[in-house]
Amino acid sequence: MDIFLDSADLKELEQVADWGICDGVTTNPSLIAKQGQDFKEIVGQIAQKIDGPISAEVVSEDATGMLKEAEVLAELHPNIVIKLPLTPDGLKCCKILSGRGIRTNVTLCFQPLQALLAAKVGATFISPFIGRIDDLSTDGMQLIRDIRQIYTNYGFKTRILAASIRHPKHVLEAALAGADVVTAPFAVIKRLYNHPLTDQGLEKFLADWKQSGQSSIV
Ligand code: G3P
Repeated sequence: MDIFLDSADLKELEQVADWGICDGVTTNPSLIAKQGQDFKEIVGQIAQKIDGPISAEVVSEDATGMLKEAEVLAELHPNIVIKLPLTPDGLKCCKILSGRGIRTNVTLCFQPLQALLAAKVGATFISPFIGRIDDLSTDGMQLIRDIRQIYTNYGFKTRILAASIRHPKHVLEAALAGADVVTAPFAVIKRLYNHPLTDQGLEKFLADWKQSGQSSIV
């Protein structure tokens, strides 16, 4: 399962990339706006820090405008993946880009038939938003399971990119449900390492080692 950082914060990216577990990055207009910096500049800086798919989202609402933006974004770096909204124009643009061999990430997916349509137009990734579905007290993970079943039934190659992740349990359940990728905020990724027994166990090991009177190994 690939782990992407869902952020446009370069410091967060540096930390997660340093840990050696970051396979890519997803951004969206809200995450970019938070940085208060030029969109294309940030995307270019991200591309220098990670060798993996980097999702950059168009902001036009018509296919012609989306295509123009996609052409500019794709030129920034070979790792750029064009993020498109799950609308008729978004999927129309997706089909054109897929035909040109440009990778795409269809976003704002909230029901399985949307994911079916995205696969039919050749989306590289589909982004079902688990957290926002859970926020409405319905089962976001069921969407991952349904998409997995549909894609398996028909042999679609679109990769399921579980998004809108709120906590480590979403990551676990997405992995169990067969998502290909999870994209999570920094605050969630850093918690993936956590277990109190790990901390307690290490503390005991080191205390016992100190008791042994031996110095460092090197
Ligand atoms: O970036 C796409 C998605 O992960 C955003 O999720 O619900 O935390 O804004 P959310």
